[in-house]
Amino acid sequence: MRVECSDCGAVADPLGICRCGGLPEFVLEPLRLDPIGLRRLVRERRASYEPLFASGVWRWRELLPAIPADAIVSLAEGNVPLYASDAGARYAGVDRLAYLHLGMNPTGSFKDLGMTVAISAAKAGGARAVVCASTGNTASSMAAYAARAGLAAYAIVPHGRVSDAKLAQMQEYGAQLIEIDGSFDDAFASLHSVRDAAVVNSVNAYRIEGQKCAAFAILEARAWSVPDWVVLPGGNLGNISALAKGFREALALGLIDRLPRLALVRAERGIDTTASAIAVGNPQSRNRASRALEQFHGIELSVSDEAILDAKAHIGREGIGCEPASAASLAGVRALRQAQGDNAIAPDADVVAILTGHVLKDARGPAITALRGVYPERQSRGRDDKAYA
Ligand code: F0G
Repeated sequence: MRVECSDCGAVADPLGICRCGGLPEFVLEPLRLDPIGLRRLVRERRASYEPLFASGVWRWRELLPAIPADAIVSLAEGNVPLYASDAGARYAGVDRLAYLHLGMNPTGSFKDLGMTVAISAAKAGGARAVVCASTGNTASSMAAYAARAGLAAYAIVPHGRVSDAKLAQMQEYGAQLIEIDGSFDDAFASLHSVRDAAVVNSVNAYRIEGQKCAAFAILEARAWSVPDWVVLPGGNLGNISALAKGFREALALGLIDRLPRLALVRAERGIDTTASAIAVGNPQSRNRASRALEQFHGIELSVSDEAILDAKAHIGREGIGCEPASAASLAGVRALRQAQGDNAIAPDADVVAILTGHVLKDARGPAITALRGVYPERQSRGRDDKAYA
């Protein structure tokens, strides 16, 4: 597959930033398969006992950069549920809503879809070490896949702004933790301080290729019917770029005949949000995300921390749960339902909200919202106390 700069179109290196400052992106070549054949191939792979096809990313191998099978590092990522939610639909005020729960991936976030491709490419290319800047999930995912690949991993994280669970997780997988003063943006700016390591942030074009498979997962789970809206939280804006690429390719391949609208939900409080995963001030994929919003007739909006935590409590009470940043999706659907004109989600809309991280990724949820009475009171009793009512 050819690689081009996503800003100026010049030939590019998948791991390097273009001279114009743009990010590299793979360009899909025409396939020999028609859409019916491609759908059938992927369905057959899903049912096969071939270990590689236990991955919801590598089942789409023809649409990914060519990597020799023996270099592929997979943890059977990408097999995530699309949960229909009547309660979520009522909460947001729409007819139909489902959650694509990407928190149900091996390390508990959507990052695994991209990391399997980035780490496989690093291994195939003979890298010894990988590095990323992270609010926690990218680093946890990198740490796991690097460990599987036998590569050293360096995680640069903003001190005091990453959940304990994520810090524990990246150390469990053996990554070297580098905590810096400042925000995610400062961590990103110090990536160069780790030498001779491949950068696996979403500026790495391989990451986008894996993450685009989330679009295919939505479509496959819906028997190839396109939702009206796909709503997701945004931080560094790699994920919306990837999702848009997935839908564009599905359209180009004839798998679908129209595009959904996209809504990108950011935290009103910016780098001071309690949804620490999306506390990013200067997103690296700003340009391609803006282009995606244009192409998909999309909307970008910000929601308050209160709205995020209220939505998180709601998702928890459905028995699904997610980390704070993920709940920005549902908060966003609710806000757009109440918006006016072309910026509104209509009451009869069919919506997919993406949940990006698992509930156990950040266990402060009930602690920070308990005061507002969204969660039941906690009770503690000794063993001689009467049974619960
Ligand atoms: N949701 C969660 C749970 C995340 O961890 C992130 C990003 C996003 C949404 C936003 O995705 O950056 O592609 O726009 N987390 C990065 C990290 C910044 O370091 O783990 P994005």
